[in-house]
Amino acid sequence: MNEIRVAPPALRRRADDEEASRYSRREFIKRVIASGAVASSATYVFGGLQGCSSRGTVAAAVAGGVERLIRINVNGQERPVDVLPQETLAMTLRYRLGLTGTKLSCDRDECGACSVMIDDVLHNSCSVLTHSVRNRKVVTIEGLQGPNGELHPVQQAFIEGLSPQCGFCTPGQVMAAVALLKHNPNPTREEARQAMAGNLCRCGAYDNYLNGVMRAAASTKATAT
Ligand code: FES
Ligand code: FES
Repeated sequence: MNEIRVAPPALRRRADDEEASRYSRREFIKRVIASGAVASSATYVFGGLQGCSSRGTVAAAVAGGVERLIRINVNGQERPVDVLPQETLAMTLRYRLGLTGTKLSCDRDECGACSVMIDDVLHNSCSVLTHSVRNRKVVTIEGLQGPNGELHPVQQAFIEGLSPQCGFCTPGQVMAAVALLKHNPNPTREEARQAMAGNLCRCGAYDNYLNGVMRAAASTKATAT
């Protein structure tokens, strides 16, 4: 039976940690209630982003005084985006910026498929509001490649270690490993296991990914010496 994994608190910021954010979900709900505006989540999810058009009725209903046209820094580039007040970063990345390497699975801060780094800290982007990342640096799986398109050492190690099975969870696993090695370049296997614990894999390839992380740590250390 697959092990139930719990994200370690130190390495991954959960949605609860965003309490202090001006644009937290709670804050958004307060704003919606205060303005009497209700946006249909079904329209948003199943209707795609046409409901987000600045000419759309939903857009007009939820405008609520929050600036729509913002710039966010993604993978080192300033990207102008038109976002709804309640829009999550995962939605913006995938459906407005075309960065589909960030996967959406549970869409509720539980599986890690949507992992990205924000200011070098791992986050589940399905539970981060896009408005909260203004003036912060977002890195997605697409941002890991080298200047000539080379794979990141973690990606290379995962390939060499045959870590992925179906591959769906792989971008999230890669981002978790990159975030770990950024903060702890020489982890023990147990430290790596803890750091990767927030990334679920329905194929159960946990040990394969762990092998890949340890391989990446070893190759990075060998390159540095
Ligand atoms: S899709 Fe974001 S945590 Fe599962
Ligand atoms: S490799 Fe299939 S979900 Fe992880």
